[in-house]
Amino acid sequence: MMAEAEEKEKKNQNSYHWYPGHMTKAVRMMQENIGLVDLVLELADARIPQSSRNPDIERLDAGKSRIILLNKADLADPEYNRQWTAFFRGKGFYVLESNAKTGAGRKELNDLVQEVCREKLARDRKRGIVNRPVRAMVVGIPNVGKSTFINSLAGKACTKTGNKPGVTKGKQWIRLNRSLELLDTPGILWPKFEDADAGMKLAFIGSMNDEVIPVEEMACDLLAVLREFYPESLRERYRVEWGDSGAETLEGIARSRGCLARGESLDLRKASGILLDDFRAGRLGKMTLERP
Ligand code: G4P
Repeated sequence: MMAEAEEKEKKNQNSYHWYPGHMTKAVRMMQENIGLVDLVLELADARIPQSSRNPDIERLDAGKSRIILLNKADLADPEYNRQWTAFFRGKGFYVLESNAKTGAGRKELNDLVQEVCREKLARDRKRGIVNRPVRAMVVGIPNVGKSTFINSLAGKACTKTGNKPGVTKGKQWIRLNRSLELLDTPGILWPKFEDADAGMKLAFIGSMNDEVIPVEEMACDLLAVLREFYPESLRERYRVEWGDSGAETLEGIARSRGCLARGESLDLRKASGILLDDFRAGRLGKMTLERP
């Protein structure tokens, strides 16, 4: 029994476990705000669609319509963008690929919002309520692109509407067009920090505080995942072959990139940083690290 408890404790100390205290406050805020909207726009990272979502959203948004946006689709593998879209649609979700940076897919989103909220709009009309825009809230884990998404949708043309009767004081709504309003503060979800594998992938995409995890450890873990899913990527980018271990492969990258520490020894820390930066910026190619 004791050994089991110790084992559990050890597992909990895994470097990818992480719980930012301010998340509790964020969840409270989200619970408050979600009551004000008709529709939730949930952003997931297209490179890790599963690990970048939080199942608790189901509990938080009870009764609201929801659209899943696979954001940063430009950095993810197009084939798996299609597969993940089909996967979530098969589970009954509305799904769109998204690139918040360019705002691509805005028209598709507007059309989908109308479709998703059709019943609600029809109910409104029956009650004599016409021209009441659908209200939406953007939610997602840190760094998934919420602010970028809101800004790209809002553009310059939008007008911010002030406080309205029945709306919690201080809330700002961005009127995107005649039929859609967006709450200007996104809802922050916490990632599934209890799952070490998800934690690791979240660290790869930069959704976790890097300082928590030694960079060489993270780089070796990323190499293992790349070797499994994109074995050609290293040769294409660094002209190096896979070593017998992550550390050996890192040495290859360090040599290829001229990462030297004092005394001519290889600077694996620097090589690790280069690998992670290249992956995050999409310079290793368009990659998806999870399969539906
Ligand atoms: P958050 O509010 O959810 O925390 O995320 P935020 O919008 O701050 O976006 C986090 C980073 O992700 C930003 O990069 C942003 O530009 C980038 N990003 C957001 N959406 C997309 C997308 O669809 N594709 C790509 N390629 N990148 C996206 P940053 O490095 O913090 O800023 P910047 O250097 O881009 O200005």
